[in-house]
Amino acid sequence: MIERTSVVAALAAAALMISLSPAAADSMDPLMLANPCAGCHGTDGKSKGAMPTINGKSKNFIAKALRDFRDGKKPSTLMQRIAKGYTDAQIDALASVYGK
Ligand code: HEC
Repeated sequence: MIERTSVVAALAAAALMISLSPAAADSMDPLMLANPCAGCHGTDGKSKGAMPTINGKSKNFIAKALRDFRDGKKPSTLMQRIAKGYTDAQIDALASVYGK
């Protein structure tokens, strides 16, 4: 039962994060854009649990990963849906927040 509850909580958190994305996607403020990512990847890109850590990856890696998720070239469970909300310029802004 405990496990089921935590799965439900995780899904609710994911749904909340995804529902926050459209509002943030109107913004070009990099930190505002990066806000919904933090729920899964951590505020500094160091993820807890099963989410991949994006801290320490290059800007190019992050920008390419987001474009590939968006365009369906990189397999994903969630990231395609998330990446679809962002323009190329916003993807570059996100890469500048998390990438090095
Ligand atoms: C609901 C949780 C969630 C949110 C929100 C989220 N991600 Fe992800 N991210 C994942 C998961 C899970 C993966 C692994 C691929 C997959 O299954 O979708 C991933 C993969 C990635 C990767 C590739 C990492 C690698 O090593 O290949 C990058 C880059 C990334 N996310 C960036 C972002 C950015 C930037 C945002 C905010 C716009 C974001 N993510 C929002 C869950 C999330």
